[in-house]
Amino acid sequence: MRVLFVVDPLAKLSLAGDTSYALMLEAQRRDHEVWTCGVEDLGLEHDDPVADAQLTVVSLASTAAEAFSCEDRTPIPLEAFDLVLMRKDPPVDLTYLHATWLLDLAKPKTLVVNDPSGLRELNEHLAILRFPELIPPTIVTRSPRRLQAFLREQGGAIIVKPVDGFGGLGVFLIRNGDPNTSSLFETATSAGRQWTVAQRYLPDAVRGDKRILLVDGEPIGAVLRVPQDAEARGNLHVGGRAVQTVLDDDDRAIIRAVAPVLAQHGQILVGLDVIGGKLTELNITSPTGVRHIEQLEHRNVAAPILDALERRARARLS
Ligand SMILES: Nc1ncnc2c1ncn2[C@@H]1O[C@H](COP(=O)(O)OP(=O)(O)O)[C@@H](O)[C@H]1O
Ligand SMILES: [Mg+2]
Repeated sequence: MRVLFVVDPLAKLSLAGDTSYALMLEAQRRDHEVWTCGVEDLGLEHDDPVADAQLTVVSLASTAAEAFSCEDRTPIPLEAFDLVLMRKDPPVDLTYLHATWLLDLAKPKTLVVNDPSGLRELNEHLAILRFPELIPPTIVTRSPRRLQAFLREQGGAIIVKPVDGFGGLGVFLIRNGDPNTSSLFETATSAGRQWTVAQRYLPDAVRGDKRILLVDGEPIGAVLRVPQDAEARGNLHVGGRAVQTVLDDDDRAIIRAVAPVLAQHGQILVGLDVIGGKLTELNITSPTGVRHIEQLEHRNVAAPILDALERRARARLS
C-alpha cells in the first residue's frame, strides 16, 4: 500500500512516545510506501485534494534526523494513496477544521482515517456528554457564577478544562476555599467570553488515568498514566508515568456503549480516557499510547492497527 501520514513536523515528534512514528515503522516493516506531509501541505486542484508530500524512509532511532530520511517534496493527488492517516495533533483550530474539509473531498477516492467529517462532528471533551451514565457530572458553561455553584454541588472539588484543550494544557483542579478560585474561573472562561468544561473531581485520578486504545471499536491495549506527586494531571506530556494495566468491567461497559457511536462517525483509531471507571475524554484526533504499551508489554501494538487499516483499504477496493 501507499500510505500518507498527515502529521506535525517530523523534527518535532517526540519519538519515544509517538504513535504516528510507531505506525510508520510498522507500515514500512510491511513494505508499504510511507509518505508524510503537514496539514499546511494539503490543497485542492479543482475538487481534487492534493498534498505536497515526501516519500519517507523510517528507521528505529531516537532522533528525528536518524529516524527519517525524506525525498524532496512533490505534489501528489490524495487518490494516489491507498490510505491517508490524519494524525495532526490538536488543537482543533481553524486550520485543522479547514484541513478536514479538504480531506472530506478525498473520501470517495481513498480511505481517510479517522473520518474527517467525524473529526468535526465529535469534540474530544464534549462528545462524552452523550453518555451521561458513564461520565462524572459534567457541565459546559461560560459563567463563573455557574462554576461557583457547580463547585458547591459537587462536594467542593472540580476540574475545569478548555473545550479544545489537549495534553493537560489549561486543566485546573479547584477545591473549595482555594483563594484562587474566582480568578481561575475567570481565566477558564476568559471572563465569560468562552466555554469551559467543568467536571466533578474524581479522587481516583491519583491512581491514574487509563488510556484505552480502540481499533474499529475493539480494545487493542491500555496504559495507566499516573500523575507525579503534587500534580493533578496524568498526561504523559506533563510527566505522568506509564504503568501497565488491564481492562475491568467498567472499561468494557464503556467500550460497548461508545463503540457504535464511534463507528457511526467513522472514528476507527480512538483513545478513551477513563478515571476510576468513568469516561473523561474521547481522543480522536491523534490518539497515542501505542509505544508505551509496546514498551511495557513487549508486544507489537501497531500491528493490529495496520491489520485493521489494511482490511478496510482492501474492502474499499473490492
Ligand atoms: N474529572 C476528573 N477528575 C480528576 N482528574 C481529572 C478529571 N478530568 C481530567 N483529569 C486529569 O486531567 C488530565 C487531563 O484531562 P483530560 O480530560 O484527559 O484532557 P486532555 O488530556 O485533553 O488535556 C487527566 O489525565 C487527569 O489526570
Ligand atoms: Mg486526556
